[in-house]
Amino acid sequence: MSDPTQTVRRKVLVAGAAALAGGALTACGSGGGDGEKTSSGEPNAATPPAGSAPAATPSAGGAAGGKSIAKAADVPVGGGKVLKEEKLVVTQPTKGSFRCFTAVCPHQGCLVNKVSDGTIDCPCHGSEFKDTDGAVVKGPATKGLAEKKITVAADGNITLA
Ligand code: FES
Repeated sequence: MSDPTQTVRRKVLVAGAAALAGGALTACGSGGGDGEKTSSGEPNAATPPAGSAPAATPSAGGAAGGKSIAKAADVPVGGGKVLKEEKLVVTQPTKGSFRCFTAVCPHQGCLVNKVSDGTIDCPCHGSEFKDTDGAVVKGPATKGLAEKKITVAADGNITLA
């Protein structure tokens, strides 16, 4: 009774994947941001398709080719209207007298947000500017708002001149 025992040994060579030295581990960069500056990076995610048909109003004698930034009727007498997209503010200090200024505060670049009691006001640090000429009424701003030339058409459309 022979019992031949065959022992088969297998040598399994494990071709181990050689560990690549020098793994590129990126350490988390510490964002040491001290104080946020006003970043005007507004996410313009949804831009509506430019399919808006031009208004079919025959302009009588209006030769201004500029785009209307506001309607005179939307600018209250003794007040104004802030146009955020255009970064402009249009005021009407007295009936029929319109002014336009940059809405960017010269102090640190915030947008002014309201016109009341004869002043254009910045919400960030409280600067106030005259609604007639943009001059500083109250700081911390030391420079006034730059004026922009506008044209008010007979149909009430206000355009940049
Ligand atoms: Fe307007 Fe400071 S940014 S008052």
